[in-house]
Amino acid sequence: MEDIFKRLPEHTCGWLANKLTLYKYQDFWAVKQLHEGGILAQQSFKAEPSDVFLCSFPKTGTTWLKSLAFAIVSRAKFDESSSPLLTNLVHECVPFLEREIDKIEENHKKSNFPLVATHLPYSLLPESILASDCKIVYIYRNTKDVIVSFYHFMREAVKLSMEDAPFQEAFEEFCEGICSSGPYWDHILGYWKASLERPERILFLKYEDLKRDPASNVKRLAEFIGYPFSADEEKAGVVDNIVSLCSFENLSNLEVNKSGKRKAGSLENRLYFRKGKDGDWKNYFTDEMKEKIDKIMDEKLSGTGLVL
Ligand code: A3P
Repeated sequence: MEDIFKRLPEHTCGWLANKLTLYKYQDFWAVKQLHEGGILAQQSFKAEPSDVFLCSFPKTGTTWLKSLAFAIVSRAKFDESSSPLLTNLVHECVPFLEREIDKIEENHKKSNFPLVATHLPYSLLPESILASDCKIVYIYRNTKDVIVSFYHFMREAVKLSMEDAPFQEAFEEFCEGICSSGPYWDHILGYWKASLERPERILFLKYEDLKRDPASNVKRLAEFIGYPFSADEEKAGVVDNIVSLCSFENLSNLEVNKSGKRKAGSLENRLYFRKGKDGDWKNYFTDEMKEKIDKIMDEKLSGTGLVL
């Protein structure tokens, strides 16, 4: 494995006081551990037909999507007063492919829990997923909000103040495609092209649509992953209860998400819940920055019909 990294392009993020080093492996940037986890998954992961993959670029709504999907698939066992989401960070409940392959294999052996999350681009997914009929849900989000969210998450992760972490530099790197799992446009395009070939297999959900109309998108999600709500459930308010349980207001105010930590040395759970708003970019972008990133995204995504 070490040999692979010696040959890869490497970038240390100056705006993060050189505390983050990314490697470019097969056209995508990520930290070494994540690439290693992805390579390991490629070599050994065997998807089960019932698996459901929750795929995303970081900061596009992964935590929210995982929470909703978890609440949907576990609703026969738990309701909004007994859900493990009340006492655990959702990342404890739904494992990441590139970090927790053992946990997923254990789920395969011991239970029929179907959810697996990943930030891997489509082209780096293990062959067993690509060859399967497993469902894939892909969440995406307004690029400018992703940049702001990523900036704050990383800055706080390495404990830098805003004065010490120049936003403009973070922005410029993002525009060059350099950020964790970047370039963003290629990440989206990989899943988008695959969804055109097999639309029944990949559902695209947009963060802003989920914000605007959570109930109908939660119903879409449940149906797509094979856990549709019955008419009786809808009448009994189960959809609304899941929307409320997983709302930013609810989750971000839980003690576990306000002051918890997964384990010593890991990130504070609160970092996954910042503002949960749509349009926060307006507080950070100059007109020039807006123009620049809009132009890049328009060019890269032209012809897809995707609007970010
Ligand atoms: P902001 O930084 O803009 O607030 P990810 O989960 O992919 O890491 O993305 C994190 C972003 O999703 C953060 O955005 C976070 O606040 C927001 N988020 C987390 N949980 C959410 C929820 N339940 N509803 C809406 N947004 C949520």
